[in-house]
This record gives sequence, C-alpha cells and structure tokens, in this order.
Amino acid sequence: AKILLLNGPNLNLLGKREPDVYGHDTLEDICNSLIEKAKQEGHELLQCQSNREYVLIERIHEAQDEGVAYIIINPAAFTHTSVAIRDALLGVSIPFVEIHLSNVHARESFRHHSYLSDVADGVICGFGAQGYEFALQSAISKIAK
Ligand code: DQA
Repeated sequence: AKILLLNGPNLNLLGKREPDVYGHDTLEDICNSLIEKAKQEGHELLQCQSNREYVLIERIHEAQDEGVAYIIINPAAFTHTSVAIRDALLGVSIPFVEIHLSNVHARESFRHHSYLSDVADGVICGFGAQGYEFALQSAISKIAK
C-alpha cells in the first residue's frame, strides 16, 4: 500500500539544527532508510517536506486521490498552531500517526498542546529518528488489519 510521510517546517535543517535536541541524522537519511524499510515490507513510501502550511494541506488532499492508505506526519511547529492541517487530515479521513523527534512534553509548555493528537491513531515522541521506524511499523500493522 501507499504510505505518505509528511514533515513540516524546519525539518529540512535536520542534522544541522539543534543536534542536541533533534539528533545528527539528516531528513534525507531518515527518508531513505524509511523508503527502503517500507519497500522490504512490500509498501511504497512517498514523502514530502515543506515549510509552507498550504503545501502540506494540498499534499494531504492529493493523498486521497492517490489512494494513500496511511499518513505518518511530523507537523513540527504546525503541531501547535494548525487547525487547518487537522481539518485536512479529518477531511480526507486517512488514518495517521503523529510523530516528533523530541519529547515535546519535556520542553516548553507551548509544545505540550497538539491540534492533531486527539484525532491521531497514536503519537510517538522523544525517540529521535528511531521514532520514524516505530511509526512505520505501526502504520504497516494498521494497514494489515
Ligand atoms: C518537533 C517538535 C516541535 O515542537 C518543533 O516545533 C519542531 C520539531 C519534533 O520533531 O520534535 O519543529 O515536531
């Protein structure tokens, strides 16, 4: 099945950006490894990173036309601000998992609230790049059901 990986603003800077918080892997490292793992399990992983909210929203809309079965999303700072991304995900009714590299609950209080968590299948945070692998595993097992 098709699985869409979405990454929000500033995640293009991974590897260089606050490595003590976000780790040393680049987004390309993370995406390439996930594409390979998905392929091994017989799935196709599509990916999109954008610093623009509307690009992510339109990518979510396209996912419906493409028959994407599952979305893995790190909405980055849009987690804490975007009713529009929440509405897009609800609008296409594609199930999704929310993921963060850092443990947002151990950080500033403005990161404790998410506009997506209550409508996500689950939330993974605090495991760095490994969290993306957990998210892929959970997506694959949800698709199998
Ligand atoms: C993040 C956490 C967000 O609070 C932050 O704005 C990000 C990255 C994470 O992956 O830990 O940009 O989503």
